[in-house]
Amino acid sequence: MQAIIDQTINFVKITLANAETGHDWFHIERVYKTAQTINILEKGNKLVVELAALLHDIADSKFNNGDEEIGPKIAGDFLKSIGVSADITLHVQEIIRNLSYKASLGVINFKSKELDIVQDADRLDAIGAIGIARAFTYGGYKNRVLYDPAIEVNLNMSKEEYKNTTAPTLNHFYEKLLLLKDLMKTDAGKAMATQRHQFMLDYLDQFYAEWNGKK
Ligand code: ADP
Ligand code: NI
Repeated sequence: MQAIIDQTINFVKITLANAETGHDWFHIERVYKTAQTINILEKGNKLVVELAALLHDIADSKFNNGDEEIGPKIAGDFLKSIGVSADITLHVQEIIRNLSYKASLGVINFKSKELDIVQDADRLDAIGAIGIARAFTYGGYKNRVLYDPAIEVNLNMSKEEYKNTTAPTLNHFYEKLLLLKDLMKTDAGKAMATQRHQFMLDYLDQFYAEWNGKK
């Protein structure tokens, strides 16, 4: 099993070499480690969890032209090429498919414990200290201001809209990051999200205090 994982790590590192910072190898590595942590308690199929975590954003770099099947295809071809069984490969492909944009619109109906684990791990990387750093990195890349008290939070944006909005980065906390805690599926994921969520609330308190010259 370790040979399969090592080969997959290599493949992902090479494939994501030019990915943007939100979905680079280090994002994958964090999701991989977090998925392992969750899986200690949840006891899903270890190989499926690890492969899916490693391959979940495989089409997020130069390959992605909005085609939802590119990720599962690249992952499937790779797993076959290194001799992974058909049932494991199909399961990993279903997980990748379900983490994609279309899945968030409710088009796909696949459920598994391993999907829940990898999805929780991916969402956990958008909150807490890392999530804050990623949000401001994204905001900077898009030339957003940190905060503007005059610009209101909009809870009714589609995924495309919130990516293209010109709203301040702080709005993204209310539009997405603070909502993720309640979307966690596994008990272990919920426990980790609770801590990271509280860290963001504390961060926001400090942010407003400093904004107003109070601390
Ligand atoms: P994922 O692939 O994890 O679903 P996205 O592609 O939506 O995530 O976003 C990648 C990272 O960029 C996440 O950490 C997310 O919070 C951040 N991000 C996305 N949209 C915004 C935004 N409008 N403002 C600030 N950060 C954003
Ligand atoms: Ni991801």
